[in-house]
Amino acid sequence: MDSLTIRRPDDWHLHLRDGEMLSLVAPESRDFARAIVMPNLVPPVVTGAEAAAYRERILAAGFAGPLMTLYLTETTDPADVVAAHASGLVTAVKLYPAGATTNSASGVRDMEAVRPVLVAMEEAGVPLCLHGEVTSPETDIFDREAVFLDRVLTPLRKAHPALKLTLEHVTTAEAVAWVRGNDNVGATITVQHLMKSRNDMLVGGMRPHLYCLPILKRAHHRDALREAATSGDPCFFLGTDSAPHPTHAKEAACCAAGCFTAPIALPCLAHVFEEEEALDRLEGFASLHGPAHYGLPANAETVTLRRTAPYAAPSRVARGGLSVELFDPGHPLHWSLR
Ligand code: DOR
Ligand code: ZN
Repeated sequence: MDSLTIRRPDDWHLHLRDGEMLSLVAPESRDFARAIVMPNLVPPVVTGAEAAAYRERILAAGFAGPLMTLYLTETTDPADVVAAHASGLVTAVKLYPAGATTNSASGVRDMEAVRPVLVAMEEAGVPLCLHGEVTSPETDIFDREAVFLDRVLTPLRKAHPALKLTLEHVTTAEAVAWVRGNDNVGATITVQHLMKSRNDMLVGGMRPHLYCLPILKRAHHRDALREAATSGDPCFFLGTDSAPHPTHAKEAACCAAGCFTAPIALPCLAHVFEEEEALDRLEGFASLHGPAHYGLPANAETVTLRRTAPYAAPSRVARGGLSVELFDPGHPLHWSLR
């Protein structure tokens, strides 16, 4: 197969940031029609009014398809969430366990504190996106997702069976099995978790540009994700979690979490799906399963990926004093949209 025409993809988990960084990275998601935009700004996007203002800044920066989320806090007003969703402004609410990742300090410490919001969301049909990791200091960082399934997600599923859940950036075989075994749940998978394992990050020296959260896991978890993504199962769809940080924040003694993948996500995905002999399933994963999960139409427009001579992925984007390193797939790419 030398070319592949698919419905235009969407990115169901994206960090666009704000200010100068937003201006730099917004055009880099040009391959995607729409994206669920994460609300973990400083300060976070908590209210409908804040989401409306952020949406305007994103449009002005050059990304035309933002689907907005609200950052769930223990003081979130259920009525504001329901109204922002009913008006079409907000697509979902994002739950960060406090302390789990970048800018999560205002997140949830006690699930009981957000119970009224969850009840209102379940009634009104507002989806909940979850960063699925516990933050208990005694839990090993490589186990935080699996422990979250038992300790938080299973009780949540029982308490709110009609609440639509998206388990974000799944990284383990346990999470894949959990998603398959429960109703009314979808899961996003990132490019880096399909392509890399913890060995790629740690053997022969630490590679800060591969450090993200949830952290890369053992190779057999990567393989479980590859199987899920290429299986055709509509529960699984693309959320790049493309998370740009300035180069100085990544190449630091304590490096920030996040891989910047948006500009090369589709050529990387085509590479993975070809390796798995599943190019015919790329459209489902990148363009069809996400809209179906969120009850939205797939994009009418199509894009064509073409096989090219091997080329090196670009290594950074920069403007003025700001630079961001791209995710390094570790080998040349040979699919292109242009
Ligand atoms: O690696 C990550 N980076 N994981 C997250 O959950 C947040 C993200 C960010 O905002 O930088
Ligand atoms: Zn994220």
